[in-house]
Amino acid sequence: MSSAALPKHIHSTGDLPKVAWAKGSYVYDADGKQYIDGSGGPAVYCIGHSDPEVNAAIKDQLDRIAHGYRYNFTSDALEELTEIIRRRCGGTLRHMVYVTGGSEAVESCLKLALQYHAARGEMSRRRFIARERSWHGNTLGALSVSGFLERKRAFEGSLLEVSRLSPVNAYRPVAGATAETVGEACARELEHEILRLGPENVCAFIFEPVVGAAGGCVPAPPGYARRVRDICDRHGVIMISDEVMCGAGRTGAWRALERDGVEPDVMSVAKGLAAGYLPLGAAIYNDKVAEAIHGLHGAPMTGHTFTGHTACCAAGVAVQKIVERDRLVERVHAMEGRLHALLSAATQDIEAVGDIRGRGFFQAIELVADRETRRPFDGERKLFMKVRQQAFANGLICYPVGGNVDGVNGDVVIIAPPYNVTEGELEEIADKTAASIRQVLAAEGLA
Ligand SMILES: Cc1ncc(COP(=O)(O)O)c(C=O)c1O
Repeated sequence: MSSAALPKHIHSTGDLPKVAWAKGSYVYDADGKQYIDGSGGPAVYCIGHSDPEVNAAIKDQLDRIAHGYRYNFTSDALEELTEIIRRRCGGTLRHMVYVTGGSEAVESCLKLALQYHAARGEMSRRRFIARERSWHGNTLGALSVSGFLERKRAFEGSLLEVSRLSPVNAYRPVAGATAETVGEACARELEHEILRLGPENVCAFIFEPVVGAAGGCVPAPPGYARRVRDICDRHGVIMISDEVMCGAGRTGAWRALERDGVEPDVMSVAKGLAAGYLPLGAAIYNDKVAEAIHGLHGAPMTGHTFTGHTACCAAGVAVQKIVERDRLVERVHAMEGRLHALLSAATQDIEAVGDIRGRGFFQAIELVADRETRRPFDGERKLFMKVRQQAFANGLICYPVGGNVDGVNGDVVIIAPPYNVTEGELEEIADKTAASIRQVLAAEGLA
């Protein structure tokens, strides 16, 4: 593809205000304008901003040592965080590689899966299977398994060859399936692809239990994850759950797949782990993977200079202690229905609202040109970008994304408030979201 074929300005953010400070659910720019953080930025700031306990814990760590290099030292912060994650994951997910963000976490998951097969002498198992309308990150491996057209186009030709399956979406089921049967249809598609490739050539299947940026909070239909688990087991394929966005409590369970009653072999977590206070992510793997890798190689052959960065781990410990002490994951679960009801009520007069979906505090509003046929608006309009700008003007940070229908068309607004948001703040978020959508539709002549 020539560069002329790439759409223009897909990554331009335009002129941005300067951020000055923030407290709880509110952010202030240098001109003193207030914004309510309805999406925790990109689903990151899960306990709100400027928490004094977290800041004190980081400062305390910095005053002692910022970073003890992983080949020289372990630390209290790293060991404590490991214990917390083990407890929150439960089961056999007891091993981890710490990194500094989501892409690195996914990259590490892919490498753990490859190393697992290598350690077992199955070097032919190199192929990854992933899904369309998924986002796994910006490094080349993570980008390779992603199904997000606009973010990949400029790099095509240098990405890994990956099998790509249909998106699994009850609102937009694959041809021949219904909302009720789409999970089973897509599970079968996975098994067909494994058999087509030959199981001896398949390394891992990676998916988001609740699709974030590429789909707009699309949960796995009931039973789907369990079928995936069985298929992966049957064919010796590693099951990777990408929980960078939907994990760490965001969807009302610490592990997103907990609500599906399934344990993956390998799992990524990042955004909510240290809640944006410092950069932190992890690739978590189970005993089965650990036994193979540790048995032959001693340790995972991945990691970076800042793996297990001490101050970042201290931030993670402080955040996770608050999440556990204040029972915030339980709160998110309990208030899932309340957030859905508020978004429904606030947008009930908007004909273009086709679907409101998600889990926990990870919910999205999908806009459609026709409710009956579920036809999206023309992607050229970039409605989602306009909603982002209008919301910002209205003092709301939300997370609109596009291309969820076919990679180009589709407009979804993701809402992902802090786990400790107040009822009043939730109402403000819902009202400002609805008002922003209404204003954009009116300005576009679509109301
Ligand atoms: C599911 C998922 N995986 C991976 C990533 C990449 O994370 P990061 O942007 O921290 O590298 C993201 C980011 O949005 C994500 O949503």
